[in-house]
Amino acid sequence: MHHFQYTQNVLWCEEIPVPELARKVGTPFYLYSHATLTQHFRAFERAFAGMKHLTCFSMKVNSNLAVLRLFALKGGGVDIVSGGELYRALTAGVEPEKIVYSGVGKGIEELEYALKSDILMFNVESNQEIVKLNEVAGRVGKKARMAIRVNPDVNPKTHPYISTGLKENKFGININDAPEQYTLAAGMKNLKIGGVSCHIGSQLTHVSPFVDTLGRMKKLIASLEETGINIGYLNLGGGLGITYDREEPPHPREYAKAVKEELGTTDLTLILEPGRVIAGNAGILVTKVLYTKNNHDKIFIIVDAAMNDLLRPSLYNAYHAIQPVNISTRDNVKADIVGPICESGDFFAKEREVSSFEPGELMAIMSAGAYGFSMSSNYNSRPRVAEVMVKGDRFYIIRARETYEDMVRGEEIPDFLMSA
Ligand code: LLP
Repeated sequence: MHHFQYTQNVLWCEEIPVPELARKVGTPFYLYSHATLTQHFRAFERAFAGMKHLTCFSMKVNSNLAVLRLFALKGGGVDIVSGGELYRALTAGVEPEKIVYSGVGKGIEELEYALKSDILMFNVESNQEIVKLNEVAGRVGKKARMAIRVNPDVNPKTHPYISTGLKENKFGININDAPEQYTLAAGMKNLKIGGVSCHIGSQLTHVSPFVDTLGRMKKLIASLEETGINIGYLNLGGGLGITYDREEPPHPREYAKAVKEELGTTDLTLILEPGRVIAGNAGILVTKVLYTKNNHDKIFIIVDAAMNDLLRPSLYNAYHAIQPVNISTRDNVKADIVGPICESGDFFAKEREVSSFEPGELMAIMSAGAYGFSMSSNYNSRPRVAEVMVKGDRFYIIRARETYEDMVRGEEIPDFLMSA
């Protein structure tokens, strides 16, 4: 359920017609529905009611300060993967004791920053990182609470680029090697074992890989407890899929039910890192058609957004629904929807049956609230687009469109190139 619906053939976001926003903000822009974000967050929270848990929104999905603030106000934490994300989270007012930090390559300065910020937990992904974390914690006079991010070797049955829990993926420490690394960490002065952690992949459309993983994590926890290592937190990562096209992913309710059943009664506090399931269908990318052309029976619809604004189709061949903002009575056409970037890989859809568009008309690229803006770039020196949040009949520009000046900020021509 989301709040992008048609009324009299015009697409609205909550109580505002999208064309009105496009007139005021210009195109392209990302558009988020406050009600949808809130509803998805609540649905997830409600599903886990009755279990001790902490929901840490995976902010790589959408790291706009306003979005983070919204979840922080609802009691949520965040899952971070860099110093930059920590800075954003703290700036948005996320409580440090609700921040968990994953990532295979945390730099020393990043470790220091997170230690000084007193975050809840480090999810450590290698033996060398364990050693480094202990060393840095000693230097800054802190005790680091940590979990080992375990690679459980479970097939999440998703796109290979977004599967993370197979032994050939770079993430985590192999589950069979984890006990030895826990024993090592337990003996280190500046570390405190807090939990175990995993994340097997993204856009999962079945509960079975989650259940398999949980089974393996339970066994690991039991074996650790036998050796006197007590585990307080069990982090199950994120990964729940959404409907982009015709997928029928489990509702958070079904996911939580399966977790509850597999887990049984426990004192563990669950940490959950949902991302896409909360933000994916709460955002769209609004773009304007610039031109259409017909090259030897092939129709191209050229829009003003491009792969630098939404990379998912180019990178993963991901499906995003294409909808007209104003429904016309013209016949449908089969077309490629492409952007202005100088790459053949710059497309949003290929050979897709869509309503026919005329230059100047608006198009909505759906399900773009997750891994949309956050993966955008300035490629081809295109300023990054505006982000807008609608709440009821009001809208807020939560990130201004970049200017050309913004794009070159920080660049400098050295003196030796200035003369002559
Ligand atoms: N926790 C960890 C440790 C993660 O690495 C991820 C995503 C998440 C949580 C959140 O997963 P979600 O609930 O959103 O599935 N850019 C790709 C997806 C990359 C996923 C990276 N990790 C895409 O656009 O599909």
